[in-house]
Amino acid sequence: MRVLLVSSEVYPLIKTGGLADVAGALPPALKPLGIDARVLLPAYPAALRAMEAAGPLTVTEVGDPLGYGPARLLEGILPGTACPVWLLDHPGLYQRPGGPYVGPDGHDHPDNHRRFALLSKVAALLARGDLLPGWQADVVHCNDWQTGLVPAYLRLAEQRGGAAKGPGTVFTIHNLHFGGMFDPAVLGEIGLPSPFYGINGVEFYGRLSMLKAGLFYADRITTVSPTYAWEITTPEGGRGFDGLLAGRAHAGQLTGILNGVDYDQWNSATDPALAHHYDAATVEVGKAANKAALQAEVGLEVRPGALLLGLVSRFTDQKGVDLVLHAARHMVDSGAQLVILGSGDAGLEQALAALPHGFPGQVSVRVGYDEDLSHRIQAASDVFLVPSRFEPCGLTQMYALRYGALPLVRRTGGLADTVSEIGDGRGTGFLFDSPSVEGLLGAFYHALGVYRRPQDWAAARQRAMAQDFGWARAARRYDDLYQDLGRAA
Ligand code: ADP
Ligand code: GLC
Repeated sequence: MRVLLVSSEVYPLIKTGGLADVAGALPPALKPLGIDARVLLPAYPAALRAMEAAGPLTVTEVGDPLGYGPARLLEGILPGTACPVWLLDHPGLYQRPGGPYVGPDGHDHPDNHRRFALLSKVAALLARGDLLPGWQADVVHCNDWQTGLVPAYLRLAEQRGGAAKGPGTVFTIHNLHFGGMFDPAVLGEIGLPSPFYGINGVEFYGRLSMLKAGLFYADRITTVSPTYAWEITTPEGGRGFDGLLAGRAHAGQLTGILNGVDYDQWNSATDPALAHHYDAATVEVGKAANKAALQAEVGLEVRPGALLLGLVSRFTDQKGVDLVLHAARHMVDSGAQLVILGSGDAGLEQALAALPHGFPGQVSVRVGYDEDLSHRIQAASDVFLVPSRFEPCGLTQMYALRYGALPLVRRTGGLADTVSEIGDGRGTGFLFDSPSVEGLLGAFYHALGVYRRPQDWAAARQRAMAQDFGWARAARRYDDLYQDLGRAA
């Protein structure tokens, strides 16, 4: 079974969020199941540098499939794995400052439709065996709107080539909130004929949606937790796609497969970012040492008994960080400390950056992206906050469980599937329902109460650290799905 996984981010080459973690961990997890999984992503400057540093790259000319000028594939091995990776190199589209989606000014790259159309087109050509003699995919696994056009291009190729069925397609929704919406006028520019623009196609309320392309044309849809798989079929959680998604769920074509955790990257006994290593047997001493070290590092008063709340997140409306902003006073008044790391919306960045002024030595906020610091926050925190308004899966609460930081989360999406309420000698964290400051504080006071009972706290921490969300289970589920599609083809 040969699988081409297409993603706009892949850890450790380029990352803005959990999609990268998933795209970097799933392909190697599929290997033991006998799946030849390979990865395709754009040759962004950081990704190209990392791949060049890892070893020599093999070049294949792609030609000029969409008329944007010639492109090439650079093949190497994903660092730390045995997994082949193709970087799609088109300097005019991908070699530029900024992130994968936005420029240095924080605005979307104006040619994102071309950037991700080309990625999708090349994925379709590669998967059909039109680019590299000797390699074609049985299944293409697409992820989020940036790869939504892959199944549309495959459909087009089938229509043009007669009956020959191309590879099977899986489209994974990591976040329904990004629709990949463009002016319908770009239809010709991205190489789709006009019949593709319609309700049975890429049209979505008068716009062209690359997400809709994936949802409509893919053979199977998955999303990253069972609860989110249900939420997106409802008007409250479906963002206008609920009708389509409910239909596909009804046909047995939409499933929720919970993401895994890469426990090689997230292992508190070996983590190179930590000065003090620990496991479940040494967690008490280990976390105390990491807490003292982090308090000193980020300018918090070194108080061993303070309940330390950690938060690492994109700063967006989704993540509910504004709730923490408004709950901070009550938390600190109760003797807790807060350490926050994140970046995102300018307004939230500003408000959060100003927060420590009111609470010297008790609240610390780092605006930015810092992988190593994110590990140290997990290791040091007593409680890890994920107060999301919605959360397709969420990875940080699973990292927190393994690092012995009890997650405090809103009961939604993947958070509801991975954290259970502490009480009666059971449970691994603290949950709240209402997306409000009161809701968040209710769970916070619950956590504080348990923290004041050290035996209960220690027992909960052991339960949390014993949870296993490794990739093996999810890899088996994807394997089943790929096999199913292979048979159906
Ligand atoms: P999302 O993908 O919606 O942002 P996830 O919980 O799935 O949420 O994944 C977020 C990933 O990004 C985690 O690996 C988290 O540790 C990481 N992360 C988020 N913000 C930062 C940051 N500012 N610095 C370092 N890592 C971050
Ligand atoms: C998205 C979601 C997050 C999920 C991640 C990886 O970014 O917001 O909940 O964990 O994708 O699937």
